[in-house]
Amino acid sequence: QRGDLLAGRQVLISAGPTFEDIDPVRFLGNRSSGRMGFAIAEAAAEAGASVTLVAGPVNLATPAGVQRIDVRSAREMHAAVLGAAQNCDVFIAAAAVGDFRPAEVALHKIKKRGDGGLSLELTQNPDILADVAALPRRPLLVGFAAETENVEAYARAKLERKRLDLIAANQVGSGLGFEVDDNSLTLISADATLRLPTAPKRELARQLIDVVAQRLRDRGTD
Ligand code: PMT
Repeated sequence: QRGDLLAGRQVLISAGPTFEDIDPVRFLGNRSSGRMGFAIAEAAAEAGASVTLVAGPVNLATPAGVQRIDVRSAREMHAAVLGAAQNCDVFIAAAAVGDFRPAEVALHKIKKRGDGGLSLELTQNPDILADVAALPRRPLLVGFAAETENVEAYARAKLERKRLDLIAANQVGSGLGFEVDDNSLTLISADATLRLPTAPKRELARQLIDVVAQRLRDRGTD
């Protein structure tokens, strides 16, 4: 019965892009639409979980029964996720978090000066997954890896470096991954690789939730 798969479980999901302000009218962002993360939130709620969705700036309706927290920057997403992570059983990080932000946000719109260019100094953002992994009561951790080449090899390296339980790898670029309705995912853990062929994100989300539910059950019986 699908509705019982995650009954009694707390699921935390990050979705969408982050925007890092440069000045009052400009920002650094990326092409994530939030669709993958929102589909996972919907599938988790359908599976009976209590779902918190931390969403970057996206244009999507909140799935039924999901508690949504809206954020803009990576640092806001970090604070919202860490605030909700203490009691969760699983954290699924589907957001495309900006790795860098401008070192300073200009108070006024930056103006052109002559014909010269402009250099922006960037600072690194906090790593949300790494900080959730360091919590005393560590939830099951599911990361995403968006790559344009060597997808599985890079994803496996990320799984090990970030000490994740599972990583969902997807190829991005040329009409794949970001913004579109379909995706294909490879789910990689220490002991298994499962390739999910191209399908609507809602369908892939259900398959991912099935795998997560199984791993939570296994963990309970360890
Ligand atoms: O939103 P859509 O348009 O539907 O597109 C979906 C997607 C392509 C954005 C999604 O499927 C996806 O792959 N999301 C992760 C994209 C990504 O930026 O990955 P990454 O390789 O930069 O980061 C690896 C993992 O670390 C991710 O789980 C990310 O959420 C997490 N991370 C990264 C940086 C950071 N500072 N904190 C993090 O938690």
